[in-house]
Amino acid sequence: MVTARAPATSANLGSGFDTFGVALSHPADTVTVERAAETRIEVTGAGAEFIPTDPEKNVVGAVADALDAPAHIRIDKGVRPSSGLGSSAASAAAAAVALNDLYDRGYTRHGLVPVAAEGEAVVSGEAHADNVAPALLGGFTVVRSDDGATSVDAELPLVACLPEVVVSTRDARGVVPESVSMRDHVETVGNAATLTAGMCRSDPELVGWGMDDPVVTPARAELITGYAGVREAALAAGATGVTVSGAGPSVLAVCEPGERRSVAAAMVEGFADAGVGSRAYQTVVG
Ligand code: HSE
Repeated sequence: MVTARAPATSANLGSGFDTFGVALSHPADTVTVERAAETRIEVTGAGAEFIPTDPEKNVVGAVADALDAPAHIRIDKGVRPSSGLGSSAASAAAAAVALNDLYDRGYTRHGLVPVAAEGEAVVSGEAHADNVAPALLGGFTVVRSDDGATSVDAELPLVACLPEVVVSTRDARGVVPESVSMRDHVETVGNAATLTAGMCRSDPELVGWGMDDPVVTPARAELITGYAGVREAALAAGATGVTVSGAGPSVLAVCEPGERRSVAAAMVEGFADAGVGSRAYQTVVG
């Protein structure tokens, strides 16, 4: 029997759609695997009732297939599904680590990124690796088109605020524009490069600046009740940048050390003003 933990993650960070991700220090999923003739899945924890246990429909079933590693797989969810906090990626990454160890497959953490991304395809219809990369490697990650990933350690205070509304990844991908103007492209590249430099320096000002995104975030913000008010409240409370976390509905803020508590309170209040309950995770890049 092998047990592995993988953390929640936040993808995109505004300017890095399908490219950037960060691991959060908490919450996390825990996956326990035992060898079996056929894969069988049990799920407990946050939102377990919404997660299919059929191996054909669960991310970890796809991971077990990709590793040719049939197992009895128990998933204890710490990351709520459809939260924008990489719930399926946390399960896929933890399962990939545990099954790789159980069957002694010999993959490195980097080698497991495309394997775990196969699981993402089950949920969103596309195998994108921007959540599984930080879930496996930690820190700030940049994925390439071949699903290879580069990771950087960073020390940054973050607040992820999860409202009690559901936005499916499929719906959130449906509103992403199919093309961008050269002006928006130039702005996005500049912001993404600024954010990357900020991560390398653990600089909340640069990271916050680099989170601005003229293309994807404005379209997705429309799907999140209260987003504009929450963003404004977080910035007024000291956040240096605010964006949609992954496909939403969570909202991610970066701030200076010492500002997390006030930013978290402002975000919860911002959602409450829109009639939406929420929970704020005060976290750091994990
Ligand atoms: N990059 C993905 C998206 C993450 O924003 O759709 C969600 O799984």
